[in-house]
Amino acid sequence: MHLYIALISLNKVFELILIYRYSLYTDIYTHSVWLHLSAHRAQCNQHGGTRSFCTTSSHLATATIVMSRLAVVFGGSRGIGRAVSQLLAQRGHRVVVLSRNKEAAQATAESLHGEKHLGLSCDVSKEENVQKAFETISKTCGTVGYLVNAAGINRDALLLRSKSEDMLSVLHTNLLGSILTCRGALRSMLSHGGAIVNIGSVVGVKGNSGQCVYSASKAGLEGFTCSLAKEVATRNIQVNLVAPGFIRTDMTAGLEKEEAVRRIPLGRFGEPAEVAQAVLFLLESPYITGQVLLVDGGLQLAS
Ligand SMILES: NC(=O)c1ccc[n+]([C@@H]2O[C@H](COP(=O)([O-])OP(=O)(O)OC[C@H]3O[C@@H](n4cnc5c(N)ncnc54)[C@H](OP(=O)(O)O)[C@@H]3O)[C@@H](O)[C@H]2O)c1
Repeated sequence: MHLYIALISLNKVFELILIYRYSLYTDIYTHSVWLHLSAHRAQCNQHGGTRSFCTTSSHLATATIVMSRLAVVFGGSRGIGRAVSQLLAQRGHRVVVLSRNKEAAQATAESLHGEKHLGLSCDVSKEENVQKAFETISKTCGTVGYLVNAAGINRDALLLRSKSEDMLSVLHTNLLGSILTCRGALRSMLSHGGAIVNIGSVVGVKGNSGQCVYSASKAGLEGFTCSLAKEVATRNIQVNLVAPGFIRTDMTAGLEKEEAVRRIPLGRFGEPAEVAQAVLFLLESPYITGQVLLVDGGLQLAS
């Protein structure tokens, strides 16, 4: 009997430590963990009084699943970013959706599962825009747990025909933009940890005729991702890159599909939701950092 009481008390102490540790994240998170622990405890009680045998590791595993964080998705209004926002919201995270078009960002935020999502306007290629966005986020939403950089443009053309202003737009949006947003988010993540996923491209890994500048921006993002992963690993921040192939979004709407599909081993374009799955996997994987994950239907295997 004494042993039974001692085990119950020990279990309670572990629960309180766990709740205290995770309260370092957000209020929502603490609330979720608390609710989940309560539910889990009730479940344990139901199973013939086996509560004292519930290990803290089983609590920890369960708690990790329901962890709710503030997720910031640049380029979240359409395409891949929108699919990422939808998946994050379905997982119980609060999402801030950003794009240049404020109405589109707000419309996406309002359409997400759950409450308290926010839509903001931000042009990632403009430093002061990014700075202002993070000021608003920290004032109104709190600490950033996840950052996804899905804002991107293409201005495909053979190099000899590329205009300088197009080159600058692509580099400023795809490469500098993500660098600026990472810097903005890090200020918030340094004390509590976090995870970042940048969206690169298979073209950044393999190259493609007619996409010299675009592929340079994406290859640059890969180098940046690996370097930043090393720089912030001791702060418990993971930085990874998802490199999609052909995905069915506005960006690829004008492409000659039949010719492109012939080059894809899986024989079809990917869906934004399929990229979002990979993004979520990396955000939620605490022991993966500095990785490039290709989500391309095997395109990188084709010559
Ligand atoms: N689709 C593909 O096949 C494919 C393949 C490989 C990689 N990618 C990469 O995946 C990412 C998402 O592409 P997607 O296909 O989803 O494109 P998309 O449907 O055209 O969506 C692009 C998103 O980025 C936002 N955006 C563009 N420029 C921005 C800027 N300067 N500041 C803030 N937001 C900006 C857009 O909103 P606003 O226009 O309102 O700003 C929109 O929300 C891009 O980085 C792209 O390079 C796509």
